[in-house]
Amino acid sequence: MIFTVAIDGPAAAGKGTISRAVAERFGLAHLDTGLLYRAVGARVDEGMEPVAAARTLTAGDLSRGDLRTLAAGQAASKVAAIPEVRLALVDFQRRFARRKGGAVLDGRDIGTVICPEAEVKLFVTAAPEVRAHRRWLEVGGDAAKVLAEVRERDARDMNRTDAPLRPADDAIMIDTSTLSIDEAVERACAAVAHRLT
Ligand code: DC
Repeated sequence: MIFTVAIDGPAAAGKGTISRAVAERFGLAHLDTGLLYRAVGARVDEGMEPVAAARTLTAGDLSRGDLRTLAAGQAASKVAAIPEVRLALVDFQRRFARRKGGAVLDGRDIGTVICPEAEVKLFVTAAPEVRAHRRWLEVGGDAAKVLAEVRERDARDMNRTDAPLRPADDAIMIDTSTLSIDEAVERACAAVAHRLT
């Protein structure tokens, strides 16, 4: 079975949680594509040239432990605006999306650029204040700064010329601002189940 679930949306909207739950429920492989950009950003912070960092990325780079920080998110968002970096990561993501057995990919451009033929496209979003609060619960520190970083990353991801963050025309919108995790997961699973049967 070749079956792709594309899950896009801004930072801290709940994409990761929903993607993992959908993958588990339906027995699909899962790829968090943000990790690719985070790993490239981390290599660039260490002095590598961005395009070389993207072209020579290995599985080991994706499993390093420091990719979840706010700083790594900002570094990822910056390298993600470079078209040649995005291009270097396309084939891997497309092969993953169309692998036998089905796949869930979450990111910013899965339904629009990487896999426009995905059987299910979800766009998971939430108000910036809600997303910043969730991020703050995870990372702590200055709440105003966390909100400013969320807004800064949104603006960069939405306004870049190459593969900007936006819903595909046929994406199903899930606004998680007032939903519990369970409710959001159930909506996503219902959309997938609808296409599978
Ligand atoms: O989902 P995340 O927060 O881990 O993503 C980190 C950054 O990587 C995000 O701000 C933009 C970039 N990204 C992207 O441009 N395209 C993707 N498919 C995934 C992430």
